[in-house]
Amino acid sequence: MNNKPIIALDFPNEKDVLQFLNQFDEKLFVKIGMELYLQEGPSIVAAVKDLGHDVFLDLKLHDIPNTVKSAMKGLARLGVDLVNVHAAGGIDMMEGALEGLEAGTQSGSSRARLIAVTQLTSTTEEQMQQQQKIQLPLIESVLHYAKITKQAGLDGVVCSVHEAAAIAEACGEEFLRVTPGIRLAGGESHDQKRVATPDYARKNGSSLIVVGRAITKAENPLIAYKKVVELWEEK
Ligand code: C5P
Repeated sequence: MNNKPIIALDFPNEKDVLQFLNQFDEKLFVKIGMELYLQEGPSIVAAVKDLGHDVFLDLKLHDIPNTVKSAMKGLARLGVDLVNVHAAGGIDMMEGALEGLEAGTQSGSSRARLIAVTQLTSTTEEQMQQQQKIQLPLIESVLHYAKITKQAGLDGVVCSVHEAAAIAEACGEEFLRVTPGIRLAGGESHDQKRVATPDYARKNGSSLIVVGRAITKAENPLIAYKKVVELWEEK
């Protein structure tokens, strides 16, 4: 698994994905989310892996432990590099996910890294308190989810940049902080509420960044990607 900015391939079909990927002549790290996976099925993962790219399969599983375990066993066979669940599913569910992933990984291959979503980056503190009835500051809820994720033995979490440093402090540098909600300065924030630029993310504890529309909807995606890489890698 490389540590390049992860491009969210939020396209409706394989044709659009291949057209998009054609603009790049390097090995990328891309994210396949539910929109694309549910339209195209597992073959889209194989198609992208065959092109040599690393794949984060972002299906955010959240169900009873046994179901998640079986689903993860199947996903492991796809040879993806990173997968996720919702931490809100609880410790038993996360442990089940890990067991399934280990059971489904072919011998000789390395197991996909498994991370858990804490609070979606589209959620505000007010929404969390009113709709989820979690009467805590958002950072406390995110930290709690990160700690139970670590307890379950997972490799890290999905969180916003604004929580990444606190999670590194509480759970250790090795524990991944994968942060979506990345925007270039002056860009639109769309439906994301907790956004940050790539350089801000790097300086504030992100291990990996996920960038979707700031690249895919840019006038020139290749130039936007290069800008993101430059900011992410800036010393
Ligand atoms: O276009 P944008 O950069 O907002 O895309 C972010 C991507 O990261 C989307 O595919 C979204 O589903 C995903 N994501 C997120 N927040 C999370 C987990 C995943 O935005 N907490």
